[in-house]
Amino acid sequence: MPAFLSAAAVLLACSILSARVKTPGTPSEWWKKAVFYEIYVRSFQDMEGGGTGDLAGIISRLDYLQDLGVDAIWLTPCFPSPQVDFGYDISDFRAIDPLYGTLRDFDRLVRECRRRGIRVVLDLVLNHTSDQHPWFKASRASRRSPKRDWYIWRDGKGEADPPSNWCSLFGGSAWTFDHATGQYYYHYFYQQQPDLNWRNPAVRREMVDTMRWWGRRGVAGFRLDAVDNLLEDPALRDNPVLPGKNAFGDPNMETRHNYKLKENHGILRQLRQVADQDGLVLVGETYTTSIDELQSYYGTNGRKGLHLPTGYMLAMEKTLTADICRRHIAEMETLRGWPVWTLGNHDLPRAVTRYGDGVHHDAIAKVLGALVLTLRGTPILYYGEELGMGNNDPRRKEDVRDSLGALGWPNAKRRDGARTPMQWDAGPAAGFTHGTPWLPVPADAGLRNVEVERKDPGSVLNFYRRLIALRRESPALREGGYQDLNPADPHLLTFARTHGDERVLVAINLSAETRKLTVAAPALAPAASRAKVRLATAGDPEGPGLPETLEPYGVVVAAFPQPERGKLVPGPTQYEDARRIAGILGGCPPSPSAPSACPSW
Ligand code: GLC
Repeated sequence: MPAFLSAAAVLLACSILSARVKTPGTPSEWWKKAVFYEIYVRSFQDMEGGGTGDLAGIISRLDYLQDLGVDAIWLTPCFPSPQVDFGYDISDFRAIDPLYGTLRDFDRLVRECRRRGIRVVLDLVLNHTSDQHPWFKASRASRRSPKRDWYIWRDGKGEADPPSNWCSLFGGSAWTFDHATGQYYYHYFYQQQPDLNWRNPAVRREMVDTMRWWGRRGVAGFRLDAVDNLLEDPALRDNPVLPGKNAFGDPNMETRHNYKLKENHGILRQLRQVADQDGLVLVGETYTTSIDELQSYYGTNGRKGLHLPTGYMLAMEKTLTADICRRHIAEMETLRGWPVWTLGNHDLPRAVTRYGDGVHHDAIAKVLGALVLTLRGTPILYYGEELGMGNNDPRRKEDVRDSLGALGWPNAKRRDGARTPMQWDAGPAAGFTHGTPWLPVPADAGLRNVEVERKDPGSVLNFYRRLIALRRESPALREGGYQDLNPADPHLLTFARTHGDERVLVAINLSAETRKLTVAAPALAPAASRAKVRLATAGDPEGPGLPETLEPYGVVVAAFPQPERGKLVPGPTQYEDARRIAGILGGCPPSPSAPSACPSW
C-alpha cells in the first residue's frame, strides 16, 4: 500500500483547504477551458498530392482532432506567400494561398470545425510582409509613393554604411540597400520580409481591418506573430555590441533598440480593444525571461493586453527536473492573468527530443503531455506531440527546406526537424500525401502513427486522449488551485489541484529510476488510501489507493477524496525566482541589461 511518510510532513502539509481557487472566468472566456493545437499547415495532411498539406487535408482530419479533444486549432499562415519563410512572408492578408486551397475551402473549414466544436485561430504576421506584397512593391517604386511610409526606409550613414548596426535575426545586416531609390529598408527577419512601419496610423488601421475581416469570416482569434518587433527606435540608435559573434558570424549585440520596445505594449492594448469588441482571442508569440516581463503582456494600469501570451519560459529550460517545474508552476501561480502552458512549436526542436534521454522516448512524451495538460491555464499542443513525434533533422543537405537550415548546415539544421509530415499510418509517406512529401517522413513513422497508436491502449496517443478527456470533465485540472504535495522530492513532481469539492492528485516522475510516491502530509494518508486512480502510465491499477512507486517517467492522475476538515495545516509554498536558460540552439547572445529572450532557432 501507499507510503505516506516524511517527518517534516506536518509543516509541509498541504493546505488543500487553503489552496487558491481562481475563478473560472466569464462564459465567453472559452479559451480558458480550451486545449489549443498548433497545425503546421504544410505538414498536416495533403489532399492534392503536391506534397504539401492543405486546408482540404485539415478538414479530412477534423474527426481525429475532435476525438483527441482539441478545442481550437492554430493554423500557421496559409495566406498567399512566396514561401521564403513558409508563409510568414505574406503577400496578401485577405486570401488563401492556392497551395493550400481557396477562401471557399477556408469557409468550409470554419463550418466543419464549428460542427465539431472546434475554433479556428489564424497566425497573423503583423510585423512584416513579403517583399512581393503589393504594398511593398508600391513602397519601393519611388520615394514619393503613398506607400513609402508603410515600411521603414532610411538613408545610410554613409556610402555602403547602413542606417544602424542592427542585425537580422536571420543573419547579416537588418538593412538592405535598394538601388532604384537609393535608400535602405529594414527587415528584422529575411530581406524578403520588410518590416511594416507601425508608427504609421494607416498601417495600424489596415491591420485592424484585416483582423475584423477574418473575424467576420468566423475565426475565433489570432496568434500574433513576432509582436516584440513591431516598433523600433525612431532615432535608429546603434545597439550595444557585445563580445563574440553569433552563429551567422555577426557581432553579438544587445537588441536594445529594435526588440521589445515598451511602446509595443500600447499597440497590443489597442489590438485587445478591437479583439474585445469583436469577440476574438489574442495569443501572442512572446518569449519572456521573467514572470514580471510575462505579466506585462497581459496589460498594465487597468488596460488589457494579450489574452494568452506564450512566455515559453518552461520550454526554454534545457532540462526538466521536479524542482525546475515546481519553480515555474509557483511563479505562474502568482501571475495576474491566465497562464499558457506549451513546450513546442514550429520554431523549436521537438520537445520530446530536447528532453529525451534516448531510452524512455514514449514515457517522456507522456510526461510532457502530463505537464501541460494538468496545470491551471491553457495548454497549446504542437501537432504530433500526441504521437510522441520526435525531431527529425534532414539527413542530406538536399533535403533541407528551411533556408536557415541550409545556411547553418551541417551544424545548425534549424527548424525542418520539427516540421516533418504528420504520421497518420504505416503506408507510403505515412498517409500524409499521395505525392512526394515536402520534407522526408521520419524513419519511425511505420510504428509511430495514428493508426497504430489508436489500437494500443498504452500508446502516447491514448494517454493524451484520456488525459484531455479527464481535463475536460475536471474543473480542478483546468482551473483549480495548485498545491505542491512534496516540495522536497527531487524526482517526483506531486501536486494537488482542487476546485470546490473536487480534488485531483497528479504525480509525475521526472527521473529515469523507479521512485517512491510519497505525499509529505500524514493527514492525507487516509484520504490517499482511498484515492481512485484515473489515469496511470503503468496501466490501470486494481482497487483503490495510490501506487507505492512510479516507474521511470511514470505519471499517475488520481481523484482524491477531501480530507476531514481541520486536519490540515498550511504548508510553505515555493516562490523562487524563475531563471531562464536561453538559447537551446545557442544562437542567442546574452545581454547585460536584460537577459536575452530572443527565440532560439
Ligand atoms: C515568427 C514565426 C517564425 C517566423 C518568424 C518571421 O517567429 O514563428 O516561424 O520565421 O516569425 O516571420
